[in-house]
Amino acid sequence: MATDRVLSGMRPTGALHLGHYHGALKNWVRLQEEHDCFFFVADWHALTTHYDSPEVIGNNVWEMVIDWLAAGIDPAKAVLFIQSRLPQHAELHLALSMCTPLGWLERVPTYKDQQEKLTEKDLTTYGFLGYPLLQAADILMYRAQWVPVGEDQVPHVELTREVARRFNHLFGREAGFEDKAAAALKKLGGKRGQAYEDYRVRYQQNGEAAALEGARSLVAGTQSLSDDDRARLLGWLEGGRRRILVEPQALLTETSKVPGLDGAKMSKSYGNAVAMREDPASVTKKLRQMPTDPARVRRTDPGNPDNCPVWQLHQVYSNAEVKAWARQGCTTAGIGCLDCKQPVIDAIVAEQTVFVERAKPYVEEPRRVRDIMDAGCERARAVAAETMRDVKDAMGLGYV
Ligand code: TRP
Ligand code: SF4
Repeated sequence: MATDRVLSGMRPTGALHLGHYHGALKNWVRLQEEHDCFFFVADWHALTTHYDSPEVIGNNVWEMVIDWLAAGIDPAKAVLFIQSRLPQHAELHLALSMCTPLGWLERVPTYKDQQEKLTEKDLTTYGFLGYPLLQAADILMYRAQWVPVGEDQVPHVELTREVARRFNHLFGREAGFEDKAAAALKKLGGKRGQAYEDYRVRYQQNGEAAALEGARSLVAGTQSLSDDDRARLLGWLEGGRRRILVEPQALLTETSKVPGLDGAKMSKSYGNAVAMREDPASVTKKLRQMPTDPARVRRTDPGNPDNCPVWQLHQVYSNAEVKAWARQGCTTAGIGCLDCKQPVIDAIVAEQTVFVERAKPYVEEPRRVRDIMDAGCERARAVAAETMRDVKDAMGLGYV
Protein backbone atom coordinates (compact mmCIF):
# COMPACT_ATOMS: atom_id res chain seq x y z
CA MET A 1 0.00 0.00 0.00
CA ALA A 2 1.75 3.12 -1.18
CA THR A 3 1.95 5.86 1.40
CA ASP A 4 3.13 8.38 -1.06
CA ARG A 5 0.49 8.48 -3.70
CA VAL A 6 -0.73 11.71 -5.23
CA LEU A 7 -3.99 11.94 -7.13
CA SER A 8 -5.59 14.83 -8.92
CA GLY A 9 -8.07 15.38 -11.70
CA MET A 10 -9.33 18.11 -13.97
CA ARG A 11 -12.62 18.54 -15.71
CA PRO A 12 -12.19 18.60 -19.48
CA THR A 13 -12.90 22.23 -20.24
CA GLY A 14 -10.93 22.28 -23.49
CA ALA A 15 -7.65 24.02 -24.18
CA LEU A 16 -6.11 25.14 -20.91
CA HIS A 17 -4.94 28.65 -20.14
CA LEU A 18 -2.04 30.21 -18.27
CA GLY A 19 -4.03 30.17 -15.05
CA HIS A 20 -4.27 26.37 -15.26
CA TYR A 21 -0.56 26.15 -15.98
CA HIS A 22 0.71 28.34 -13.17
CA GLY A 23 -2.06 27.39 -10.74
CA ALA A 24 -1.99 23.62 -11.11
CA LEU A 25 -0.04 21.97 -13.91
CA LYS A 26 3.35 23.39 -13.00
CA ASN A 27 2.85 21.87 -9.58
CA TRP A 28 1.85 18.50 -11.03
CA VAL A 29 5.03 18.50 -13.10
CA ARG A 30 7.05 18.99 -9.95
CA LEU A 31 5.11 16.35 -8.01
CA GLN A 32 5.62 13.68 -10.67
CA GLU A 33 9.35 13.78 -9.93
CA GLU A 34 8.93 12.93 -6.27
CA HIS A 35 5.73 10.93 -5.86
CA ASP A 36 3.66 8.14 -7.27
CA CYS A 37 1.29 10.37 -9.26
CA PHE A 38 -2.07 9.60 -10.82
CA PHE A 39 -3.66 12.35 -12.92
CA PHE A 40 -6.99 11.89 -14.61
CA VAL A 41 -9.62 13.48 -16.83
CA ALA A 42 -12.79 13.97 -14.78
CA ASP A 43 -15.23 13.56 -17.65
CA TRP A 44 -18.11 12.28 -15.49
CA HIS A 45 -17.69 15.43 -13.44
CA ALA A 46 -18.00 17.52 -16.59
CA LEU A 47 -21.37 15.89 -17.22
CA THR A 48 -22.72 16.87 -13.81
CA THR A 49 -22.86 20.49 -15.01
CA HIS A 50 -22.80 20.06 -18.81
CA TYR A 51 -25.17 17.16 -19.28
CA ASP A 52 -26.96 19.25 -21.89
CA SER A 53 -23.91 19.60 -24.15
CA PRO A 54 -22.37 16.13 -24.37
CA GLU A 55 -20.90 16.80 -27.80
CA VAL A 56 -18.13 19.04 -26.47
CA ILE A 57 -16.61 16.55 -24.05
CA GLY A 58 -14.67 14.45 -26.56
CA ASN A 59 -12.82 17.36 -28.13
CA ASN A 60 -12.13 18.97 -24.82
CA VAL A 61 -10.58 15.82 -23.40
CA TRP A 62 -7.89 15.48 -26.07
CA GLU A 63 -7.08 19.18 -26.16
CA MET A 64 -6.67 19.17 -22.40
CA VAL A 65 -4.45 16.11 -22.33
CA ILE A 66 -2.23 17.64 -25.02
CA ASP A 67 -1.87 20.68 -22.78
CA TRP A 68 -0.86 18.43 -19.89
CA LEU A 69 1.86 16.96 -22.08
CA ALA A 70 2.78 20.44 -23.31
CA ALA A 71 3.25 21.51 -19.70
CA GLY A 72 5.74 18.71 -19.16
CA ILE A 73 3.61 15.98 -17.62
CA ASP A 74 5.50 12.82 -18.47
CA PRO A 75 3.52 9.60 -19.01
CA ALA A 76 6.61 7.64 -18.05
CA LYS A 77 6.49 9.21 -14.60
CA ALA A 78 2.80 9.74 -13.89
CA VAL A 79 -0.18 7.54 -14.62
CA LEU A 80 -2.64 9.44 -16.85
CA PHE A 81 -6.14 8.11 -17.30
CA ILE A 82 -9.77 8.88 -18.04
CA GLN A 83 -12.37 8.53 -15.29
CA SER A 84 -15.24 7.16 -17.38
CA ARG A 85 -13.04 4.45 -18.90
CA LEU A 86 -12.87 2.78 -15.51
CA PRO A 87 -16.36 1.72 -14.46
CA GLN A 88 -14.95 1.28 -10.95
CA HIS A 89 -15.34 5.02 -10.36
CA ALA A 90 -19.08 4.89 -10.93
CA GLU A 91 -19.26 1.71 -8.88
CA LEU A 92 -17.41 3.13 -5.90
CA HIS A 93 -19.52 6.28 -6.07
CA LEU A 94 -22.61 4.11 -5.73
CA ALA A 95 -21.09 2.05 -2.93
CA LEU A 96 -20.19 5.17 -0.95
CA SER A 97 -23.63 6.64 -1.53
CA MET A 98 -25.06 3.87 0.66
CA CYS A 99 -23.45 5.27 3.76
CA THR A 100 -23.10 8.99 3.08
CA PRO A 101 -25.69 11.12 4.91
CA LEU A 102 -27.51 13.54 2.63
CA GLY A 103 -26.74 16.43 4.96
CA TRP A 104 -23.01 16.00 4.37
CA LEU A 105 -23.50 16.69 0.68
CA GLU A 106 -26.00 19.50 1.11
CA ARG A 107 -23.54 21.27 3.39
CA VAL A 108 -20.65 21.33 0.90
CA PRO A 109 -20.16 25.03 0.06
CA THR A 110 -19.78 24.53 -3.71
CA TYR A 111 -23.23 22.94 -3.87
CA LYS A 112 -25.24 26.05 -3.06
CA ASP A 113 -22.66 28.47 -4.52
CA GLN A 114 -22.65 26.89 -7.94
CA GLN A 115 -26.41 26.50 -8.04
CA GLU A 116 -26.71 30.21 -7.37
CA LYS A 117 -23.97 31.19 -9.81
CA LEU A 118 -24.88 29.02 -12.75
CA THR A 119 -28.48 30.15 -12.96
CA GLU A 120 -28.77 29.37 -16.67
CA LYS A 121 -28.53 25.67 -15.78
CA ASP A 122 -30.79 23.44 -13.79
CA LEU A 123 -28.46 22.01 -11.17
CA THR A 124 -31.10 20.62 -8.87
CA THR A 125 -30.06 17.17 -9.99
CA TYR A 126 -29.05 14.05 -8.15
CA GLY A 127 -25.77 13.98 -10.09
CA PHE A 128 -24.82 17.50 -9.08
CA LEU A 129 -25.49 16.85 -5.42
CA GLY A 130 -23.25 13.81 -5.74
CA TYR A 131 -20.38 15.75 -7.36
CA PRO A 132 -18.16 15.75 -4.26
CA LEU A 133 -18.97 12.14 -3.49
CA LEU A 134 -17.85 11.12 -6.96
CA GLN A 135 -14.69 13.08 -6.24
CA ALA A 136 -14.32 11.17 -2.98
CA ALA A 137 -14.59 7.93 -4.95
CA ASP A 138 -11.84 9.12 -7.33
CA ILE A 139 -9.52 9.81 -4.45
CA LEU A 140 -10.30 6.79 -2.28
CA MET A 141 -10.02 4.42 -5.25
CA TYR A 142 -6.26 5.00 -5.40
CA ARG A 143 -5.80 5.21 -1.65
CA ALA A 144 -4.10 8.50 -2.32
CA GLN A 145 -2.47 10.28 0.54
CA TRP A 146 -2.12 13.65 -1.16
CA VAL A 147 -4.56 15.57 -3.30
CA PRO A 148 -3.16 18.74 -4.89
CA VAL A 149 -6.13 21.05 -5.35
CA GLY A 150 -7.04 24.70 -5.21
CA GLU A 151 -8.48 26.22 -2.10
CA ASP A 152 -12.05 25.96 -3.37
CA GLN A 153 -11.69 22.17 -3.43
CA VAL A 154 -10.50 21.73 0.14
CA PRO A 155 -14.02 21.06 1.47
CA HIS A 156 -14.26 18.20 -1.02
CA VAL A 157 -11.12 16.63 0.36
CA GLU A 158 -12.46 17.07 3.87
CA LEU A 159 -15.67 15.35 2.89
CA THR A 160 -13.56 12.56 1.44
CA ARG A 161 -11.85 12.08 4.78
CA GLU A 162 -15.16 11.86 6.57
CA VAL A 163 -16.54 9.41 4.06
CA ALA A 164 -13.45 7.21 4.42
CA ARG A 165 -13.62 7.32 8.19
CA ARG A 166 -17.28 6.39 8.24
CA PHE A 167 -16.74 3.62 5.72
CA ASN A 168 -13.91 2.12 7.75
CA HIS A 169 -15.97 2.44 10.87
CA LEU A 170 -18.97 0.68 9.38
CA PHE A 171 -17.24 -1.95 7.32
CA GLY A 172 -13.81 -2.33 8.87
CA ARG A 173 -15.09 -4.36 11.80
CA GLU A 174 -13.33 -7.60 12.30
CA ALA A 175 -13.82 -10.17 15.03
CA GLY A 176 -10.88 -10.10 17.43
CA PHE A 177 -9.41 -6.97 15.83
CA GLU A 178 -7.41 -5.94 18.89
CA ASP A 179 -5.77 -9.35 19.22
CA LYS A 180 -4.96 -9.46 15.55
CA ALA A 181 -3.51 -5.96 15.61
CA ALA A 182 -1.41 -6.91 18.64
CA ALA A 183 -0.14 -9.97 16.80
CA ALA A 184 0.70 -7.80 13.79
CA LEU A 185 2.55 -5.44 16.11
CA LYS A 186 4.72 -8.33 17.30
CA LYS A 187 5.65 -9.04 13.70
CA LEU A 188 7.01 -5.53 13.35
CA GLY A 189 9.80 -6.53 15.72
CA GLY A 190 11.03 -5.00 18.96
CA LYS A 191 12.53 -1.74 17.80
CA ARG A 192 10.03 -0.99 15.10
CA GLY A 193 7.17 -2.14 17.30
CA GLN A 194 8.25 0.29 20.00
CA ALA A 195 8.55 3.12 17.49
CA TYR A 196 5.09 2.33 16.14
CA GLU A 197 3.61 2.39 19.64
CA ASP A 198 5.29 5.71 20.40
CA TYR A 199 3.90 7.20 17.22
CA ARG A 200 0.44 5.77 17.85
CA VAL A 201 0.24 7.19 21.34
CA ARG A 202 1.52 10.57 20.17
CA TYR A 203 -1.05 10.69 17.42
CA GLN A 204 -3.97 9.49 19.49
CA GLN A 205 -3.19 11.60 22.55
CA ASN A 206 -1.93 14.77 20.91
CA GLY A 207 -3.21 14.49 17.36
CA GLU A 208 0.30 15.01 16.01
CA ALA A 209 0.10 14.74 12.25
CA ALA A 210 3.83 14.10 12.03
CA ALA A 211 3.46 11.07 14.28
CA LEU A 212 0.75 9.68 11.99
CA GLU A 213 3.07 10.21 9.02
CA GLY A 214 5.91 8.51 10.86
CA ALA A 215 3.85 5.47 11.78
CA ARG A 216 2.43 5.16 8.29
CA SER A 217 5.81 5.16 6.62
CA LEU A 218 7.13 2.73 9.18
CA VAL A 219 4.32 0.30 8.40
CA ALA A 220 4.67 0.85 4.67
CA GLY A 221 8.40 0.27 4.88
CA THR A 222 8.11 -3.11 6.60
CA GLN A 223 8.22 -5.57 3.72
CA SER A 224 7.54 -8.66 5.79
CA LEU A 225 3.96 -7.71 6.76
CA SER A 226 1.00 -9.29 5.01
CA ASP A 227 -1.54 -6.94 3.45
CA ASP A 228 -4.04 -7.81 6.18
CA ASP A 229 -1.61 -7.05 8.97
CA ARG A 230 -0.65 -3.84 7.29
CA ALA A 231 -4.32 -2.79 7.09
CA ARG A 232 -4.77 -3.64 10.77
CA LEU A 233 -1.78 -1.64 11.92
CA LEU A 234 -2.81 1.33 9.79
CA GLY A 235 -6.38 1.08 11.07
CA TRP A 236 -5.26 0.82 14.66
CA LEU A 237 -3.56 4.19 14.34
CA GLU A 238 -6.78 5.87 13.41
CA GLY A 239 -9.05 4.22 15.90
CA GLY A 240 -9.30 0.50 16.06
CA ARG A 241 -10.69 -0.70 12.74
CA ARG A 242 -9.16 -2.27 9.71
CA ARG A 243 -8.30 0.48 7.36
CA ILE A 244 -9.93 -0.24 4.03
CA LEU A 245 -9.98 3.28 2.65
CA VAL A 246 -7.22 5.80 3.28
CA GLU A 247 -7.93 9.30 4.55
CA PRO A 248 -6.30 11.76 2.17
CA GLN A 249 -5.01 15.25 2.74
CA ALA A 250 -5.26 18.30 0.53
CA LEU A 251 -1.91 19.43 -0.78
CA LEU A 252 -2.01 23.19 -0.96
CA THR A 253 1.14 24.48 -2.52
CA GLU A 254 2.14 28.03 -3.05
CA THR A 255 1.17 28.77 -6.64
CA SER A 256 1.32 32.03 -8.48
CA LYS A 257 -2.00 33.56 -9.39
CA VAL A 258 -2.13 34.67 -12.99
CA PRO A 259 -4.63 37.48 -13.40
CA GLY A 260 -6.94 37.48 -16.38
CA LEU A 261 -6.67 40.22 -18.98
CA ASP A 262 -9.08 42.36 -16.95
CA GLY A 263 -7.41 41.73 -13.61
CA ALA A 264 -10.10 39.29 -12.41
CA LYS A 265 -9.32 35.59 -12.01
CA MET A 266 -8.38 34.08 -15.36
CA SER A 267 -11.22 31.97 -16.68
CA LYS A 268 -12.39 30.93 -20.10
CA SER A 269 -15.96 31.78 -19.20
CA TYR A 270 -15.02 35.35 -18.31
CA GLY A 271 -13.39 35.79 -21.74
CA ASN A 272 -10.20 37.10 -20.11
CA ALA A 273 -7.92 34.12 -20.68
CA VAL A 274 -4.73 33.50 -22.62
CA ALA A 275 -4.50 29.90 -23.76
CA MET A 276 -1.36 27.86 -23.06
CA ARG A 277 -0.83 27.43 -26.76
CA GLU A 278 -1.96 30.66 -28.31
CA ASP A 279 -0.63 32.28 -31.43
CA PRO A 280 2.08 34.88 -30.51
CA ALA A 281 0.32 37.55 -32.59
CA SER A 282 -2.88 37.03 -30.64
CA VAL A 283 -1.04 37.06 -27.29
CA THR A 284 0.69 40.30 -28.25
CA LYS A 285 -2.55 41.94 -29.32
CA LYS A 286 -4.43 40.87 -26.19
CA LEU A 287 -1.66 42.07 -23.90
CA ARG A 288 -1.29 45.39 -25.67
CA GLN A 289 -5.00 46.00 -25.25
CA MET A 290 -4.99 45.00 -21.62
CA PRO A 291 -6.26 47.74 -19.29
CA THR A 292 -3.75 49.26 -16.86
CA ASP A 293 -3.97 51.62 -13.89
CA PRO A 294 -7.14 53.60 -14.72
CA ALA A 295 -5.55 56.74 -13.25
CA ARG A 296 -2.85 56.62 -15.88
CA VAL A 297 -4.75 58.27 -18.71
CA ARG A 298 -1.92 60.00 -20.55
CA ARG A 299 1.63 58.83 -21.10
CA THR A 300 2.79 61.71 -18.88
CA ASP A 301 0.60 60.68 -15.92
CA PRO A 302 2.50 58.67 -13.33
CA GLY A 303 0.84 55.37 -12.42
CA ASN A 304 0.49 53.09 -9.45
CA PRO A 305 1.43 49.47 -10.20
CA ASP A 306 -0.66 48.28 -7.28
CA ASN A 307 -3.77 49.27 -9.22
CA CYS A 308 -2.65 47.57 -12.41
CA PRO A 309 -3.22 43.97 -13.55
CA VAL A 310 -0.07 44.12 -15.71
CA TRP A 311 1.92 44.49 -12.52
CA GLN A 312 0.47 41.19 -11.32
CA LEU A 313 1.73 39.59 -14.50
CA HIS A 314 5.18 40.96 -13.74
CA GLN A 315 4.98 39.08 -10.43
CA VAL A 316 4.64 35.85 -12.36
CA TYR A 317 6.91 36.53 -15.30
CA SER A 318 9.59 39.05 -14.36
CA ASN A 319 12.77 38.93 -12.31
CA ALA A 320 13.61 41.49 -9.62
CA GLU A 321 15.46 43.72 -12.02
CA VAL A 322 12.63 44.00 -14.52
CA LYS A 323 10.14 44.55 -11.72
CA ALA A 324 12.22 47.38 -10.27
CA TRP A 325 12.47 48.95 -13.73
CA ALA A 326 8.71 48.72 -14.25
CA ARG A 327 7.79 50.13 -10.88
CA GLN A 328 10.25 52.97 -11.13
CA GLY A 329 9.23 53.77 -14.71
CA CYS A 330 5.53 53.63 -13.89
CA THR A 331 5.55 55.81 -10.81
CA THR A 332 7.70 58.47 -12.49
CA ALA A 333 6.01 58.28 -15.89
CA GLY A 334 9.44 57.36 -17.21
CA ILE A 335 8.02 54.53 -19.33
CA GLY A 336 4.73 54.06 -21.13
CA CYS A 337 2.41 51.16 -20.50
CA LEU A 338 3.34 49.52 -23.79
CA ASP A 339 7.01 49.62 -22.78
CA CYS A 340 6.06 48.09 -19.46
CA LYS A 341 4.08 45.30 -21.10
CA GLN A 342 6.80 44.26 -23.55
CA PRO A 343 8.93 42.11 -21.21
CA VAL A 344 5.76 40.32 -20.07
CA ILE A 345 4.72 39.69 -23.66
CA ASP A 346 8.20 38.35 -24.43
CA ALA A 347 8.18 36.07 -21.41
CA ILE A 348 4.76 34.64 -22.19
CA VAL A 349 5.62 34.05 -25.83
CA ALA A 350 8.88 32.35 -24.82
CA GLU A 351 7.06 30.10 -22.35
CA GLN A 352 4.49 29.21 -24.97
CA THR A 353 7.09 28.34 -27.57
CA VAL A 354 8.14 25.49 -25.32
CA PHE A 355 4.52 24.34 -24.90
CA VAL A 356 3.91 24.38 -28.64
CA GLU A 357 7.08 22.41 -29.28
CA ARG A 358 6.22 19.75 -26.71
CA ALA A 359 2.68 19.48 -28.07
CA LYS A 360 3.76 19.19 -31.69
CA PRO A 361 4.16 15.41 -31.99
CA TYR A 362 0.75 14.89 -30.38
CA VAL A 363 -1.01 17.45 -32.54
CA GLU A 364 0.52 15.89 -35.65
CA GLU A 365 -0.20 12.35 -34.55
CA PRO A 366 -3.28 12.29 -32.30
CA ARG A 367 -3.01 8.50 -32.06
CA ARG A 368 -0.12 8.96 -29.65
CA VAL A 369 -2.33 10.71 -27.13
CA ARG A 370 -4.87 7.89 -27.36
CA ASP A 371 -2.12 5.35 -26.78
CA ILE A 372 -0.82 7.19 -23.73
CA MET A 373 -4.28 7.25 -22.20
CA ASP A 374 -4.94 3.60 -23.04
CA ALA A 375 -1.75 2.58 -21.27
CA GLY A 376 -2.52 4.82 -18.28
CA CYS A 377 -6.03 3.42 -17.97
CA GLU A 378 -4.57 -0.09 -17.82
CA ARG A 379 -2.26 0.87 -14.97
CA ALA A 380 -5.04 2.66 -13.11
CA ARG A 381 -7.34 -0.31 -13.58
CA ALA A 382 -5.00 -2.63 -11.70
CA VAL A 383 -5.23 -0.42 -8.62
CA ALA A 384 -8.95 0.27 -8.99
CA ALA A 385 -9.80 -3.41 -9.32
CA GLU A 386 -7.99 -4.20 -6.09
CA THR A 387 -9.76 -1.45 -4.15
CA MET A 388 -13.14 -2.53 -5.45
CA ARG A 389 -12.48 -6.11 -4.42
CA ASP A 390 -11.73 -4.96 -0.87
CA VAL A 391 -14.71 -2.60 -0.80
CA LYS A 392 -17.16 -5.19 -2.05
CA ASP A 393 -15.83 -7.82 0.33
CA ALA A 394 -16.17 -5.41 3.24
CA MET A 395 -19.70 -4.46 2.23
CA GLY A 396 -20.85 -8.04 2.02
CA LEU A 397 -20.90 -8.26 -1.77
CA GLY A 398 -18.03 -10.69 -1.99
CA TYR A 399 -20.23 -13.75 -1.44
CA VAL A 400 -20.16 -16.77 -3.72
N1 TRP B 1 -13.53 18.85 -8.74
C1 TRP B 1 -12.22 19.03 -9.31
C2 TRP B 1 -12.19 20.42 -9.98
O1 TRP B 1 -13.20 20.94 -10.35
C3 TRP B 1 -11.89 17.97 -10.32
C4 TRP B 1 -11.77 16.62 -9.67
C5 TRP B 1 -12.61 15.57 -9.82
C6 TRP B 1 -10.75 16.21 -8.76
N2 TRP B 1 -12.20 14.50 -9.09
C7 TRP B 1 -11.05 14.87 -8.42
C8 TRP B 1 -9.64 16.84 -8.22
C9 TRP B 1 -10.25 14.16 -7.53
C10 TRP B 1 -8.84 16.13 -7.32
C11 TRP B 1 -9.15 14.80 -6.98
O2 TRP B 1 -11.11 20.95 -10.18
FE1 SF4 C 1 0.62 49.18 -15.29
FE2 SF4 C 1 3.09 49.18 -16.20
FE3 SF4 C 1 1.31 50.98 -17.10
FE4 SF4 C 1 2.24 51.14 -14.63
S1 SF4 C 1 3.41 51.34 -16.52
S2 SF4 C 1 0.11 51.33 -15.25
S3 SF4 C 1 2.45 48.98 -14.07
S4 SF4 C 1 1.25 48.76 -17.38
